[in-house]
Amino acid sequence: MSRVSISLTFLVGVLPYVLAQSPLYGQWYSQCIPGSATTSSTTVPITVPSPTSTSKTSTAPTSTPTSASKANYWFNFGDSYSQTGFNITGPLPNSANPIGNPDFPGWSATGGANWVGYVTGTYNNSLLYTYNYAYGGATIDANLVTPYEPTVLSLTDQVNQFLTTVASKPATTPWTSSNALFSVWIGVNDIGNSYYNSGDRSAFSDTLLSAYFALVQKLYNAGGRNFLFANVPPIDRSPLMLAQSADAQALEKSVIGTFNTKLAAKISAFAAANTGTKTFLWDSNAQFTTILNAPTSYGFQDATSFGSAANMFWGNNYHPSTYANKFFGQTVGQTVLAKTIW
Ligand SMILES: *[C@@H]1O[C@H](CO)[C@@H](O)[C@H](O)[C@H]1NC(C)=O
Ligand SMILES: *[C@@H]1O[C@H](CO)[C@@H](O)[C@H](O)[C@H]1NC(C)=O
Repeated sequence: MSRVSISLTFLVGVLPYVLAQSPLYGQWYSQCIPGSATTSSTTVPITVPSPTSTSKTSTAPTSTPTSASKANYWFNFGDSYSQTGFNITGPLPNSANPIGNPDFPGWSATGGANWVGYVTGTYNNSLLYTYNYAYGGATIDANLVTPYEPTVLSLTDQVNQFLTTVASKPATTPWTSSNALFSVWIGVNDIGNSYYNSGDRSAFSDTLLSAYFALVQKLYNAGGRNFLFANVPPIDRSPLMLAQSADAQALEKSVIGTFNTKLAAKISAFAAANTGTKTFLWDSNAQFTTILNAPTSYGFQDATSFGSAANMFWGNNYHPSTYANKFFGQTVGQTVLAKTIW
């Protein structure tokens, strides 16, 4: 019980610090604020509003990409670690811009290309048209973990957006089961906004993962057969969390560990239950850990500083920099997806 009150105290203290960082990154910064659900007295001014607005309604795409027939397709879902600011009602991915809109590499959490940009444009194994539904602050289901702002498009919203737009394989987006990759990197906010709660955290991870894989099942039912998953990185080692108590860090680390173990089992069970499925797992937790344990080997000053310089692993206090994302994109493109068409 005392753990709960300690957590609430540190969360209130932490919020202004998070917000203080947001203007540094210009046009786009969607926050993943831990604990926003429990800090009702704290207002969260969004100094850099989402350029893609706040509507949750999806309408059919109207633009026509060129050379679509030669491309392979990538449908990505996630949070600020993956967001590029794509709006399905704007121009779709095309030969001049493989992410459709906004201009490549899009609006990432810390500026510059994130791993999605690097996989799409640098470490791609073919021409990829990337439909990136990822949305900053996303949780799996807003009814399970409240996002920092009600307008955030959850994984549930993102999958619904896909299902109501290009899932039907319109002429503008001629994807097939064999040329399309589906990917999900989610959980940072689900855990960041809930790890300190009372109750059985392991059972709650099961609840989260059931909701998660009900959505993956919908993607399979729509024709998806190739799935890339990423587990939850060690956000307990983010500068935001390093400013908190060792107990808070250890607790979050343990919740992440349990979630990731269960995620791996869920992926196996999903593949076993659905014929024709091919799954890939990018162990983001392992890659972050490897780099953070030996930052200078990767050109980073240390594991704890953050900023916009090229020798920073962290671009701000809760998100890796574009320089770190380059390593992630390289691993995904050249190792996890090696020998695939993506
Ligand atoms: C996408 O852009 C349209 C038109 O500008 C806007 O109405 C809509 O709200 C945007 N959608 C999202 C999800 O931001
Ligand atoms: C990778 O993507 C870029 C940008 O769309 C494209 O120009 C390039 O041809 C692609 N690489 C391969 C191997 O197809």
